Amino acid sequence: MTRKVKELENLAQIQQDALRALADVVDIEALEAWRVTHLGRSSAVMAVFSSMGGMDKELRPLMGKEANEVRQALEAALEEKRQALEAVALKQALETEKLDITLPGRPVARGRLHPLTQVLRHINQIFSDMGFQVFPSPEVETDDYNFTYLNMPPYHPARDMWDTFYTKKEGILLRTHTSPGQIHLMRARAPEPIRAILPGATMRYEQLSTRSEIEFVQVEVLVIGKQVSFAEMKGTLDDFARCLFGDDARTRLRPSHFPFTEPSAELDVGCFVCDGVGCPVCKETGWLEILGCGMVHPVVLEYGGYDPAIYSGFAAGMGVDRSTLMRYRIDDIRHFRNNDVRFLRQF
Ligand code: PHE
Repeated sequence: MTRKVKELENLAQIQQDALRALADVVDIEALEAWRVTHLGRSSAVMAVFSSMGGMDKELRPLMGKEANEVRQALEAALEEKRQALEAVALKQALETEKLDITLPGRPVARGRLHPLTQVLRHINQIFSDMGFQVFPSPEVETDDYNFTYLNMPPYHPARDMWDTFYTKKEGILLRTHTSPGQIHLMRARAPEPIRAILPGATMRYEQLSTRSEIEFVQVEVLVIGKQVSFAEMKGTLDDFARCLFGDDARTRLRPSHFPFTEPSAELDVGCFVCDGVGCPVCKETGWLEILGCGMVHPVVLEYGGYDPAIYSGFAAGMGVDRSTLMRYRIDDIRHFRNNDVRFLRQF
């Protein structure tokens, strides 16, 4: 037997041994151990490569080629085995880790609408039914929109009617009422007629109490057209109050003052608690105030882009929080934003 044949037989033997060992491998860890033994740095095939330095020159290329083929064959066998083992593992997992559909599902926690949202939606609906459109308006405002365009020039003491949150940015503030929305809407619409409401959050830097919060919801009402009258305002607001509080709700319009309306009034509803007799809730007056209103001031019409000689209009602003308190006879306005589910679950 020549040297050459012997070496080649040796290689064939190496391959055969390795493949036989591979047949016994049953899991991925054993496969890795097999790889280290049969293809690793100190494996038999690798030893052939490193022994080639001492071989005959004419033998070397042939041995190199053969050894390479053996190595490639072993690597291919390794890959095939790896895939087979993985397939088995997956099949086993699918069989043993079956989804148990007999387990009861996790209950989905059902929320509910916040009482303020419910009343706000009701208000939106009442006005929509009367043909009003609903518009959004910004909660962060400029000094001009919150005051100047509403007939309260800089340094005018009427600005003190509201305790205002000013920001560090000059002229930027959190709106104290939804009335600046009137100007936004007028400027977008002029000279078209307007019949719309603008609901949204408002902020005042107030002492917290059972009746006031620093954040609350208002709904602004705005009607602009030719020959819009005070009588129309009264009729609209009366209708609205009866829709919200019930057919037997009593209302009264009381003279008041706002810089952006002339004349101005406030709408009161008969106290629900004492039915007009007088109690602590209505401060012994028998009435509860629900909104401020009036005919849009000519200066405001002009800032909005309407000629006061041709156009007139009425505006109103109501506190949704107050109305919600009344409707559900809640004793403290601060409940609304405390996020206590024991309170919220009742609505
Ligand atoms: N903006 C006033 C307030 O918040 C309410 C109001 C609105 C009064 C529109 C008249 C007309 O107090």
